[in-house]
Amino acid sequence: MKIVRTVADVALLVSRTKISGKKVAFIPTMGAIHEGHLSLIALAIKQADLVVSSIFVNPLQFTSSADFELYPRSEDADAKALAKAGVDILFLPTVDEIYPDGKFSVTHTAGKIGSVFEGAARPGHFDGMLTVVSRLFDIVQPDFAVFGAKDAQQLFLIRQMLAAQNPLGIRDPIELLEAPTVRDSRGLALSSRNKRLSKHQLPVALTLPTALDEACLAAERGGGASSAYFSASSVFTATPEAKLEYLALVNPASFEPIEEGFSGQALMIVAATVGEVRLIDNRLITF
Ligand code: PAF
Repeated sequence: MKIVRTVADVALLVSRTKISGKKVAFIPTMGAIHEGHLSLIALAIKQADLVVSSIFVNPLQFTSSADFELYPRSEDADAKALAKAGVDILFLPTVDEIYPDGKFSVTHTAGKIGSVFEGAARPGHFDGMLTVVSRLFDIVQPDFAVFGAKDAQQLFLIRQMLAAQNPLGIRDPIELLEAPTVRDSRGLALSSRNKRLSKHQLPVALTLPTALDEACLAAERGGGASSAYFSASSVFTATPEAKLEYLALVNPASFEPIEEGFSGQALMIVAATVGEVRLIDNRLITF
């Protein structure tokens, strides 16, 4: 695996590959690599000839500088894990490389869907996220970009951004690939935050996938949106140590809440806090 730190170096390596007709897949990360990231790389390897990943802790998507400073950084271990997983090029830019000439400001706004659910909890987060993702896309110019289904709202917003950008021809169109959420043996969605859960808190964290399971069962029994919602929220009522922040059923095509009587696939999204650890999860449910 080649490690490159400048825009010029990564752009040169990628363009050489693309000129020879080969396909490039890109997985942007903020490091703290875990099995979930490795599954994105496995999907990229299946699709493309060259796999590029980046580690960049993007200051623009943090709502406080304390959060940004506290974000776990483990460059050496991350680089080893990514090399072992089959990444060909690891891009490790500095802040100046990503935001040159003092252009350290948001250039993309996530709109209405950027300010609800995760966006309500972290104002401005999605604007900063889209700004860096678009900048990284401009630099790397991949054919495919791979993101995890666990961050459903992020994925929705990136898809929406690409749907607006791809037809403009500002760069070659990028195809978005969605990797399914990776779970541990008990069903907990993998996240770098899980490390911060104590032995006592781990079973409490299972409230999230259990609530989603209950909602699925309610729908399978023929219940509608309110029955699925009630089944999931009852799990939280029975486990007050898991503090529910939001639970909603949205249309995956619009991220707008669905109405009772909706038929088709809806996405149940949930966020809850266990101790100090904020967790999210989601599941597609067929009505
Ligand atoms: O999901 C993440 O790790 C980040 O939001 C991303 C997409 C790498 C942008 O900084």
